[in-house]
Amino acid sequence: MSGSIAITGAEILGANGLEVADVLITDGSIAEVGPNLSGDVTLVADGCVVAPGFVDLHAHLREPGGEEAETIETGARGAALGGYTAVVAMPNTSPTVDSAAVVRQIQELSAAADLCDVFPSGAITIGRAGEQLAPMAELVRLGVRFFTDDGAGVQNERTMRSALEYAGSLSHLADGRPIVLAQHCEIESLSRGGIMHEGEWSSRLGMPGQPAEAEELMIMRDIALARLTGSRIHFQHVSTAGGVAMVRAAKEAGLPVTAEATTHHFTLDDSACATFDPVYKVHPPLRTATDIAAIKDGLADGTIDAIATDHAPHTSHAKDATFADAPPGMLGLETAFALANTELDLSTEQLVQVMSINPAGIAGIDDHHGRPVAVGEPANLTVLDPEATWTVSGSAMASRSTNTPYEGRRLRGIVRHTIYHGDLVVQEGTATR
Ligand code: DOR
Repeated sequence: MSGSIAITGAEILGANGLEVADVLITDGSIAEVGPNLSGDVTLVADGCVVAPGFVDLHAHLREPGGEEAETIETGARGAALGGYTAVVAMPNTSPTVDSAAVVRQIQELSAAADLCDVFPSGAITIGRAGEQLAPMAELVRLGVRFFTDDGAGVQNERTMRSALEYAGSLSHLADGRPIVLAQHCEIESLSRGGIMHEGEWSSRLGMPGQPAEAEELMIMRDIALARLTGSRIHFQHVSTAGGVAMVRAAKEAGLPVTAEATTHHFTLDDSACATFDPVYKVHPPLRTATDIAAIKDGLADGTIDAIATDHAPHTSHAKDATFADAPPGMLGLETAFALANTELDLSTEQLVQVMSINPAGIAGIDDHHGRPVAVGEPANLTVLDPEATWTVSGSAMASRSTNTPYEGRRLRGIVRHTIYHGDLVVQEGTATR
């Protein structure tokens, strides 16, 4: 633990909204809020906002098995640079996160990196094969709270029903906190063979498409299963206007559903595929301007609870292939705040709601993350400069991979500092460890 840190001159996001105050951090928590504070390190942050650190519900950190593309350490460093103090790591590693051994490995690697909290999610089914349920109780005992077969949806409705019932019975192992089943919504019999969104652009380009209905039908089915079981379900990377509308209706009906949208699904549309550049290949695929508008509306009215990154690093030799053959996925951790700040018509407070407070609640980590900036709270913080601009460069990122679709884009909003467990892990946009 480093010495005390003071942040001066910024607006802080406390329990009652934004106010100008200095913050003093000692021993991992916020010791003082008020005027004229100083510490062993004093960060002059005029024009900045001190907010709870961001929480990403959806990052592929690739370790174990995909270390050429990313490791827990490089991914956690990228996360810290993006203002994140907690990340939920997806289980489509090799081996899959479906056993205690892999959970422990990720927890140990995350503790060694000590850059942000990395919470391993567990697979819903063994090997993410969609057949046999993973030993969820065993994984919950190790601290796993979030289960998904991400990369694939659970195709069989009976299996999904069983998973929801099983998860619903496990919260006593988690101090009464709910266990979240998160779904990658894609009916494979509809999407199979498709490499981009099915619509006008796929017709023009002669590329096989994935219809919006492949996502919408699974959302519809899982809303029905949430009603049947009473268990919570979280919809990952919702990308279609129809999906947003169904989540809105389910919430209005009082069902226990939550949803996230990725930064790429509200900043890029399917016309980008006309470049044939595999950097734009992603699952679910980039959709249409109408879908983008619906996601933005969903974020503004609370239908979409969280912005997630779906950070999906791939090596340049993997992406150096035809659009059809390249793997889907794009980087997200180091550009998310700036993209949201540049492209959305939301205030900084609203952005912090969907990038920190809401995702912390969904992940069940809101005792340490997504907290107001106030005395006694844990010092997991980010210091944002919402007006400063910068230019995206994949090679300048901490990620081992460079597959950002925003190369060369000028964005507004810089993460100046990130404080994790009271330590300055990012100072002036540079990682300190
Ligand atoms: O584009 C994607 N990439 N979508 C997924 O669901 C998986 C991810 C990956 O692991 O690369």
